[in-house]
Amino acid sequence: MNIGIDSISFYTAQYAFDLEKLAEARSVDPKKYLQGLGQERMSVAPPDEDAVTLGASAAHPLRRDGKLDDIDLLLFATESGVDQSKAGGLFIHGLLDLPSRCRVLEVKQACYSATAALQLAAAHVRGSPGRKALVIASDVARYELENPGEATQGCGAVAFTVAADPAVLALDPEAGYHAEDVMDFWRPNYRREALVDGKYSTRVYIDTMLHCWRDYAGQSGRGLEDFERFCYHLPFSRMAEKAQVRLARALHAEADGKRIEEWLEGTREYARVTGNCYAASLYVALTSLLDAPGKDLAQCRLGLFSYGSGCVGEWFSGVVQPGYRQALYTQQHRAMLANREPLTYRQYEDIYHFLLPEDGADHVLPQYRTGPYRLAGISNHKRTYEAVDEGTPSL
Ligand code: HMG
Repeated sequence: MNIGIDSISFYTAQYAFDLEKLAEARSVDPKKYLQGLGQERMSVAPPDEDAVTLGASAAHPLRRDGKLDDIDLLLFATESGVDQSKAGGLFIHGLLDLPSRCRVLEVKQACYSATAALQLAAAHVRGSPGRKALVIASDVARYELENPGEATQGCGAVAFTVAADPAVLALDPEAGYHAEDVMDFWRPNYRREALVDGKYSTRVYIDTMLHCWRDYAGQSGRGLEDFERFCYHLPFSRMAEKAQVRLARALHAEADGKRIEEWLEGTREYARVTGNCYAASLYVALTSLLDAPGKDLAQCRLGLFSYGSGCVGEWFSGVVQPGYRQALYTQQHRAMLANREPLTYRQYEDIYHFLLPEDGADHVLPQYRTGPYRLAGISNHKRTYEAVDEGTPSL
């Protein structure tokens, strides 16, 4: 029996900040961001968007199309959680009016968590093929201003259902994984911004990727030639190129720049204009690839590498299903990205410095452009979310 991704939907914030403007403000050559990191823009979440609203908005089309009617497991994968106790997925469960006979929990391990959630969801479905699970990966990536990580900030969410006989991607049974206690990137509970040892983190990413590959290849016997495309966790889009070059070299494969580009084609377009979406990032790459025009990927095998600092990594793979394009939200994704509102540097900084009130009094939040859900206010330390009418205001 095949198990895998049955439907997949991506959402990002309605505001975008151009990295050329950031380069100007930081007196950096814009080519460092555009070419060196491979990033053009970052999505910026306004004060009334958070990991919950991003995630609910990603799942909204699935709800509208009746794809969540029979889920009995909701896994919310994030490292931008809004509460230390309550799972953020419960707010989403309420907003989307999901079945009450449902297990709901939050999963955390930096950017790796959505892959852990996918594998747990697949095991859940394997236990009883009638079952269906919803995984929502959602994050807001935030570094200190003027930190080298600043240019890689972003936000976004991907919601996908996991079911038997999936319409989009059937998972292969093999998975290669690796864990190690390292401090390459972390965020103590008292901080809003992540801390990172940038160059070291890229080395740990590559080393972990190679460990995972050896485990995966040992189980599956597959080599590079068995894959049509490779999707990577994308902290910045050039990371995929660095990783694929290292993988090819480790396997003594002849791979010039053209071959590397072919393996990665279509996977980095969305990440280039959203920035790092942490837990969602690998699945943003997957959505970008599936939505890409050109070659029909039906029956093609994809390799996927998930990495979460701290660290855990995993190589896994899947086969794209015939007719997969009918199950996608390609036009919606493209329209969303094309219609984002550009920010000036001042607007970017103002949003960056906005602090949610922590005094327990009643607060109504200013309304920005959001998706179908927003954080409406905070009262008595409780967050209130609401559905939003069409035509919300702009800055
Ligand atoms: P940096 O050290 O300031 O940048 O920040 P750099 O000096 O390494 O330059 C970057 C690239 O731009 C280099 O290319 C330069 O040569 C090039 P490379 O040598 O690597 O091929 N460059 C130029 N290119 C053209 N024209 C120019 C020019 N100038 C320079 N004029 C760093 C880079 C990635 C360290 C920084 O952005 C950072 O700290 N980012 C955050 C951490 C990160 O993304 N780490 C990735 C691995 S860890 C991970 O993926 C997990 C994570 O997602 C979190 C989680 O798991 O939750 C982060």
